[in-house]
Amino acid sequence: MQSLVAFVTLAALFSSSLASPTKTGTAKRATCTVDSVASAADLSDCTDVEIAAWSVPSGDVIKIQSHHVQAASGAVGSVNFTFTDASGPLWEFDTDNVDFNGNGFSFLGNGPLYWDGLGTDGGVPKPHPFVKFEGSGTFTNFIIKDSPAQAISIGTTAASTFTDILVDNLDGTTDGLGANTDGFDVSASDVTISGNTVFNQDDCLAINSGTNILSKTTCALADTCYYLWQHCVESMYGMRIKVDSDATDATVSGITYIGNSISANDKYGYLISQSYSEDFGTPGTGSLVEDITFSGATTTVTTTGSFPVVGVDCGNCQGTWDWGSLDATGGEAADIILTGGAKISGGTF
Ligand SMILES: *[C@@H]1O[C@H](CO)[C@@H](O)[C@H](O)[C@H]1NC(C)=O
Repeated sequence: MQSLVAFVTLAALFSSSLASPTKTGTAKRATCTVDSVASAADLSDCTDVEIAAWSVPSGDVIKIQSHHVQAASGAVGSVNFTFTDASGPLWEFDTDNVDFNGNGFSFLGNGPLYWDGLGTDGGVPKPHPFVKFEGSGTFTNFIIKDSPAQAISIGTTAASTFTDILVDNLDGTTDGLGANTDGFDVSASDVTISGNTVFNQDDCLAINSGTNILSKTTCALADTCYYLWQHCVESMYGMRIKVDSDATDATVSGITYIGNSISANDKYGYLISQSYSEDFGTPGTGSLVEDITFSGATTTVTTTGSFPVVGVDCGNCQGTWDWGSLDATGGEAADIILTGGAKISGGTF
């Protein structure tokens, strides 16, 4: 499970000396509390934003546009999302330089109300992604519990860091109902994803595009879940880089994995594919994947499925890939097609 960082109250750092109220109405409010749709709407004059425990009504989505945000401290609280047919994201951060400390707070997606094993391909409409990060910032210490489908989408536009996040969709393993519950889907550059834990039923960490992504994430399913997964028709990957086969403007470059612990139990333990939406097809050549590195602490990948433990299906992959710190076991033998001239050195797979 995740190791939550020691709780540090940041309020002192952020409280403003300008906070004393005046009658002119021009001074900033010191701390604004988000506990309703209305209170989240305009935070532009708040020095600090604190998220309280509350329920988001059906049909509403929340967009937070403020730099300094933390969840209410001292209590195990949650923002609870009422069942909705809104399309998602249900909660979004969209500000540059956000400094968000969740203080162990939970975002409750009420996944069991949606989960029908069909994911985003059919059945009950499922808002997705559940939580989205745009803008930029540091985001730490919160829990995503039971996302209807994909949990976290990262579409940040400047250097950003995601740490000590727990995506807990473990309940979705029951009869394979929680399909497409990706942990992190990343289409961004200069992202550090570190010290997080994901329990889910699809990609743990999927990189769709981006450069300079540093990942240190623990993706885990308890052993007892393997059996359940064998009854599931949906895919389960560990980590994946996926690029549409017809993409012409996508670059995935400079991805470094350090000390990840990945267990997959259906499809590939680790997959790089330029054939998406297929895993292995006719890879596109209009996109570029380069400089994929496993360094530092060993990244372990284990898989129990009848797919290769590592798959690489490249139409245009380049660079020298140091995989010295990858230790991948289980599944079938690796299947590597490196068209484009990339070379892999080191690694066990
Ligand atoms: C969240 O909402 C669901 C359904 O609306 C409810 O069953 C559950 O008890 C709520 N949880 C919390 C912690 O308020």
